[in-house]
Amino acid sequence: MTQKIPKLLVKRTSIHGQWSSRWAFILAATGSAVGLGNIWRFPYLTGENGGGAFVLIYLFFVLVVGLPIMMAEIMLGRRGRQSPINTMKTLAEEEGLSHYWQLLGWMGVAAGFIILSYYSVIAGWTLAYIFRTGLGMFVDADAELSTRLFSDLIADPEKLLAWHTTFMMMTILVVARGVKSGLEKAVKFLMPALFILLLVMVGYAMSTEKFMQGIEYLFVPDFDAIAEKNFFSDIMLPAMGQAFFSLSLGMGAIMIYGSYLAQRSSIPWTSVSIALADTSVALLAGVAIFPIVFTYGLEPAGGPGLIFVSLPIAFGQMPFGTFFGCLFFILLMFAGWTSAISLLEPAVTWLVENRSMKRIKATAIAGTIAWSLGLVTVLSFNKWAFSFSFAGQEKENGFFDIFDILTANIMLPLGGLLVAIFAAWLMSTRSTMEELGVGDTLIYRGWRFAVKYIAPVGVIIIFLNAIGIV
Ligand code: PFF
Repeated sequence: MTQKIPKLLVKRTSIHGQWSSRWAFILAATGSAVGLGNIWRFPYLTGENGGGAFVLIYLFFVLVVGLPIMMAEIMLGRRGRQSPINTMKTLAEEEGLSHYWQLLGWMGVAAGFIILSYYSVIAGWTLAYIFRTGLGMFVDADAELSTRLFSDLIADPEKLLAWHTTFMMMTILVVARGVKSGLEKAVKFLMPALFILLLVMVGYAMSTEKFMQGIEYLFVPDFDAIAEKNFFSDIMLPAMGQAFFSLSLGMGAIMIYGSYLAQRSSIPWTSVSIALADTSVALLAGVAIFPIVFTYGLEPAGGPGLIFVSLPIAFGQMPFGTFFGCLFFILLMFAGWTSAISLLEPAVTWLVENRSMKRIKATAIAGTIAWSLGLVTVLSFNKWAFSFSFAGQEKENGFFDIFDILTANIMLPLGGLLVAIFAAWLMSTRSTMEELGVGDTLIYRGWRFAVKYIAPVGVIIIFLNAIGIV
């Protein structure tokens, strides 16, 4: 009888470098997780999906599906120490599995391009709003003026193109220099600053008339409000999608950052910190925004423009609002920047590894692809706009909405599902236990149970339900 002798594990190192400390990794991964997803996407989805019930389910997904999958992704990344495509290929070979597993990496790269393409357009709005608030355009503005200013911006493809191009160039610049230099320092300072400014916003929200209504809307599930919706496909699917999107899971971003993580750093501990920071920022953003939305009679289900319409009104009213407004959009831009970087990194590392390209060239090529695709989103808010109904919601921005739904609700959860299957069902216990580095403890067992059963079953049921099978 021939017995397969496990290969002696060579401790790999990444050719792209390593984080200088565990903190550097936490900061960078938090930089990836905290972004427009928390401050722009979370509030508007919450508003479209009726508030508290959506928030509750989102939190549930972060905890029982997102967190274990994040640990799995970091673990795979650190074990493979290459671009997600090559990491999956190497690990599959090592575990005696099909080389088709690298397709998981490819799907991630594709999702990264699509997300970055529209992410950059929205980040472009943020750039525009730095100047708009800084120039005092919202001083004493009412809901009508703020709504009109936003509509004027998105109706103008030339402006959107200019800001989208600027933001993509900024992203290319950082990725070309290597993710580690600069990013660490920037995030260390900017994340706490963003956090504090959000607290200032919450402070302002507390002074508005409808503060309690906003809090209730966010934290008290109102099942009557969503009675007409299909609970699984209309609430659970977008909530799950938001959990994946916000935590940067399912496309290799966290995996590639994990590949730069030192061997001795604790994966469970770092994952909990990242998820906690990410979730707090999203909730704070919600607490800051909804009281303003209600106080000024705006529509919570107003769609992707929600924060760009609501927050400037508040800045126009509060003391030093021009300063705070400008600062807020600067910090939001940085938060988006550090996320955009992680969306491009998996593709760039693959080009460097497999096409022996210089990082600069690889980044220029990958960035240009994402930029070109972004033109579709630019036009989807004006010339190419069309509407359709999804999850009981009227979506008005054609291709942008399609890209967003396709990636957040389908590709990322599918990527996460495959990561879970790979890590818990196919990789040997020996490998995962060795890599996770906590021994055969309760943490290990809890993690394994969650990635083996809870996460896959959760994702599969929601998928099947969304297509009408269960
Ligand atoms: N997590 C980022 C945000 O919330 O803005 C967006 C994102 C980054 C999604 C990286 C996916 C990803 F891989």
